[in-house]
Amino acid sequence: MIKVAVTALSPTALSPTALTTQYYTATSLDGFVATEDDGLDWLFPLGAAKDTGYPAFLAQVGAVAMGASTYEWMLRNTDMVLEESGSVWPFTQPTWVFTHRELPGIDGADIRFVQGSVKEVHGRMMEVAGEKNIWMAGGGELAAQFHDAGLLDEAIIQIGSVTLGRGKPLFPRRVTNPPWRLLSVRQIGSGLAELHYALPRAGDVAPG
Ligand SMILES: NC(=O)c1ccc[n+]([C@@H]2O[C@H](COP(=O)([O-])OP(=O)(O)OC[C@H]3O[C@@H](n4cnc5c(N)ncnc54)[C@H](OP(=O)(O)O)[C@@H]3O)[C@@H](O)[C@H]2O)c1
Repeated sequence: MIKVAVTALSPTALSPTALTTQYYTATSLDGFVATEDDGLDWLFPLGAAKDTGYPAFLAQVGAVAMGASTYEWMLRNTDMVLEESGSVWPFTQPTWVFTHRELPGIDGADIRFVQGSVKEVHGRMMEVAGEKNIWMAGGGELAAQFHDAGLLDEAIIQIGSVTLGRGKPLFPRRVTNPPWRLLSVRQIGSGLAELHYALPRAGDVAPG
């Protein structure tokens, strides 16, 4: 949700201090963020995170939300996370993990387990994020719950040059009218294209 009123969404209109809720993720060309068994091995050969917009993006994040499968992937892959980020938990920002189960925490990490209404949790995240952005890290169904509640402002999608055939969906909703509004496209080598979208709000009218 935009805390500062932004009437015309464009890269220049979005000042670095405007608080936005962003769905930032990578996907296969055919719209999957992971294989059916939560595998991400297909993603890493496509490009290094440091060569993408990720470092600049993360610097502007004040609070993170993710679903249980995403969190469990990080629990299972602490060695890789440690190698990449220098810590078994890569975020200094408070992180809200949506789950119906009791999951283990991580020493030294500010992780808050929650369930149910994304709207109520988002309100708490906004208070903590201050003038920074909220990162909806996925998966797709949880991102769609944020969207359903009118809480997603932008999507930054890195499209990998691979297809998976099956897997965990990028965004299991039908969004046609108005469509998302493409703000920018950036090529990252031959393996990734980064697309930045503004998501229209309820009541916005599609361009005629
Ligand atoms: N390609 C990328 O850049 C990228 C980015 C992020 C994630 N991923 C991967 O993509 C996969 C995503 O998995 P996923 O689609 O299963 O999504 P997910 O959002 O990570 O996890 C889904 C689970 O979150 C819990 N959940 C969702 N909404 C909830 C709510 N409102 N209240 C309470 N719990 C809720 C439920 O878990 P329980 O009911 O079982 O507790 C649900 O089964 C993961 O493997 C992740 O590692 C990839």
